Amino acid sequence: MSDTTYPPSAEFASNAHVDAAKYKEMYAASINDPVAFWGEHGKRIDWIKPYTRVKDVNYDFGNVSIKWFEDGTLNVAANCIDRHLEARGDSTAIIWEPDNPEDAAQHITYRELYENTCRMANVLKDMGVGRGDRVVLYLPMIPEAAYAMLACARIGAIHSIVFAGFSPDALSARINGCQAKVVITADEAPRGGRKTALKSNTDAALLHCSDKVKCLVVKHTGGQTTWIEGRDHDYNALASEAATDCPPEEMNAEDPLFILYTSGSTGQPKGVVHTSGGYLVYAAMTQELVFDYHEGDVFWCTADVGWVTGHSYIVYGPLANGATTLMFEGVPTYPDASRFWQVCEKHKVNQFYTAPTAIRALMGQGTEYVSKCDLSSLKVLGTVGEPINPEAWNWYNDNVGQGRCPIVDTWWQTETGGHLLTPLPGAIPTKPGSATLPFFGIEPVVLEPESGKEITDTEASGVLALKDSWPGQMRTVWGDHERFEATYFQQYKGYYFSGDGCKRDADGYYWITGRVDDVINVSGHRMGTAEVESALVAHAKVAEAAVVGYPHNIKGQGIYAYVTLMNDVEPTEELRKELETWVRTEIGPIAKPDLIQWAPGLPKTRSGKIMRRILRKIAEDDYGALGDTSTLADPGVVDELIENRMNRG
Ligand code: WT7
Repeated sequence: MSDTTYPPSAEFASNAHVDAAKYKEMYAASINDPVAFWGEHGKRIDWIKPYTRVKDVNYDFGNVSIKWFEDGTLNVAANCIDRHLEARGDSTAIIWEPDNPEDAAQHITYRELYENTCRMANVLKDMGVGRGDRVVLYLPMIPEAAYAMLACARIGAIHSIVFAGFSPDALSARINGCQAKVVITADEAPRGGRKTALKSNTDAALLHCSDKVKCLVVKHTGGQTTWIEGRDHDYNALASEAATDCPPEEMNAEDPLFILYTSGSTGQPKGVVHTSGGYLVYAAMTQELVFDYHEGDVFWCTADVGWVTGHSYIVYGPLANGATTLMFEGVPTYPDASRFWQVCEKHKVNQFYTAPTAIRALMGQGTEYVSKCDLSSLKVLGTVGEPINPEAWNWYNDNVGQGRCPIVDTWWQTETGGHLLTPLPGAIPTKPGSATLPFFGIEPVVLEPESGKEITDTEASGVLALKDSWPGQMRTVWGDHERFEATYFQQYKGYYFSGDGCKRDADGYYWITGRVDDVINVSGHRMGTAEVESALVAHAKVAEAAVVGYPHNIKGQGIYAYVTLMNDVEPTEELRKELETWVRTEIGPIAKPDLIQWAPGLPKTRSGKIMRRILRKIAEDDYGALGDTSTLADPGVVDELIENRMNRG
């Protein structure tokens, strides 16, 4: 924990939406009277029928229910598009920057966004999609991804985006999980000069889905695809025929807007459900205030729309505010390590939001990639996804922000819909590595992990929970409300439990220390150890597997897999490669183990429970602190694992 603080400059603070005094005043108001506060701020979006009931929340385990603005009606797409047409129909809504810098960027105005979204909405309607139906999106980072999201919102359908890096198996599990009627994909997704064959992945996925599922295919690279008559629909042909108007459905505030699958500590990924009204209010308000977005600014969030960051801060938040949002198809290091900074220069980006893992990767390439670009347009920098180490923070601050741009380290989760802990750049002095203070309406608490007792001292260390609800909070797990309650409300009664550990310093600043459950954070993406384990044991040669996280220079955490092979199987380098590839194909490239250690046996308690604590320590090379091993069924196993670990070099 570093004590250096970086206050905003007086000039920045005086031009910001929120300065220090206003933060204090608004924060106090939001906590003292949440109903009055959100009743007022809910008006930042347009309602068809205004709400009269602002908040109806019950955190009691067994009866958890979360509703905001519950009697209001609206349409999310109309809020993100239609209401801006009069004042900014010809302004740019989306700047699209392709993977290959030699290809042309696109500037899509709000009017074009309207027409394209309506076309897509009409195509979906013609395919039989209506209110409440689920549509899975498996798309590259192309404007059609935004059209598809907004088209679903327009007709009241619920989208569920599957990151294009996921495998056919992961895709089919999600299509089946939410019983989607349609999956929207593209021929291929180019990234970093390589192409992922999305359509053929979708073909493979659909082999495991109901034959009623239809497929809408966007032509992007023009790469060859196989075509199944009747099932596959040609988006470009249909859209060119479709009408450019489509009336927005009047939806209830609590109608689901999207489902997004995310990994948990046990079992398969769960479908996080976000609803319409509260989510949009929260995404829009945080986008404006946390990044201090002003009319005419160009906002760039480098995430993929396959993650919640892309939902809230590429599409819904910025567009609800009438902003110009940049959508980037590529990766930070292609064609070389200056790509991010070249894009900032080319499109005169004002707010730039990325992940610590990207900063660390670019940091390793040297400063000349940054210094050769003109970054004078930048005003605010953001980070998200994992704790940022002070070295990366300082590098970002010195080289990218040139000491001039406040850095907002935003802590939040798929479940939270938007930022919960974050500096407001004109109001809150930052400290490298701290997500600082709560956003409006957020009441963080630090609990003693064992007793669950709230620690009231300012300086505290424990697990992070939230006392009350906020409008952007998830409402349930798709099809499994019990799992929702069990995951977030059972262990610590009366709170929303985040799954993260944290420290609070003497200034009341929060420092996230990482997950306290069996979830690992790989390059800012959440991976359940149970998922990787079940992929590994699905391989015929694997008897047992245990997966833990370990510190990784670039990714933050890497995936460390202990694998016990079937009796007659020889551990070879070849098999190691085979298992890596296996996990890639079972889940996707992000789940590929960074290290596989052959384990003749796993440390287990007498009741058969794998002692992960010990496996974590061995993976971290921290043999001195193994703790109590006396409850192990066979303590010898540990020595063997340590020896293997050391011999691996
Ligand atoms: C987990 C949520 C929501 C954005 C992307 C990740 C970690 C997120 C920070 C931060 C420290 C962070 C937490 C959290 N995390 N932001 N600024 N500082 N840790 O979403 O996949 O739902 O993961 O990411 O551990 O619980 P996600």
